[in-house]
Amino acid sequence: MHFQWYPGHMTKAKRMMQENIKLIDLVIELVDARVPLSSRNPDIDELGKNKSRLIVLNKADLADEKKNDLWYEHFTSQGFMVVSVNSKKGSGIKMVEQGIQNACKEKMEKDRKRGILNRPVRAMVVGIPNVGKSTFINALAKKSVTKTGNKPGVTKGKQWIRLNKNVELLDTPGILWPKFEDQQVGLDLAFIGSIKDEILQTEELAYHLIDFITANYSGVLAKKYEIKEEGKSYEILEQIAVNRHALLRGNELDIRKAAMLLLDDFRNGRLGRITLEVPEVV
Ligand code: G4P
Repeated sequence: MHFQWYPGHMTKAKRMMQENIKLIDLVIELVDARVPLSSRNPDIDELGKNKSRLIVLNKADLADEKKNDLWYEHFTSQGFMVVSVNSKKGSGIKMVEQGIQNACKEKMEKDRKRGILNRPVRAMVVGIPNVGKSTFINALAKKSVTKTGNKPGVTKGKQWIRLNKNVELLDTPGILWPKFEDQQVGLDLAFIGSIKDEILQTEELAYHLIDFITANYSGVLAKKYEIKEEGKSYEILEQIAVNRHALLRGNELDIRKAAMLLLDDFRNGRLGRITLEVPEVV
């Protein structure tokens, strides 16, 4: 689940992406609905200019529904087509198909004016590691198609999946790398489990998450762990350790275990649907 980035990976991934994107009419960009900005890479706007664009708010099932709506409005107002999706269950995939059809219309109209007829629209899925690209492609293709090739450095011939008579999808997703330099981005990606916890200590990460949840989703921790949401974040984590019997030898509290438990509950949606970023109001 965790990914690690090395400069070599990034360069290779970028090169592959630049090569593949030339062949593409429509870029389907997956972001994590819980952190839609932190899981985006701004380079995609440059890479995808002059292409039709569709943003998929993936893992929408784990994100706050009201915030999904805010993000829908946000990206729509920027001129993107936007769809909320749960790739694991396949919900929202029909809307994606419709979005692709709309993009097709534009493309076919352009082609028609240039005298090109019946050329299928070619689409490519892009996004940061672990955002759900393979799961999404499989849901859209309605079969398991992505095996290898979804890792930098693993090469295989380009293959196109025929979605219908108008659309072809590249079976190898384009890998984008997140903007690690921004501290908040690093934190957000660590929360959702996309980068190794070691970047921050697990306990430290849990304290940040507790601060966020108590401030924005008050009562959630109290209900889940039958604790009082009072005091500092370390006191709350101690209560979670007590509730979950996270103990070391000699009955000392195992704070690291409690932190991992909390992060795991959050990442798997067991704390309910929580979104970490909201669009800025301008
Ligand atoms: P990638 O190709 O972009 O690297 O991502 P991939 O499809 O491998 O998905 C990464 C993880 O995210 C997988 O979980 C996958 O099941 C999960 N996932 C993808 N889309 C969704 C979604 O819309 N909702 C939810 N809840 N999860 C999603 P995993 O823990 O690595 O494996 P597993 O739990 O499926 O076994």
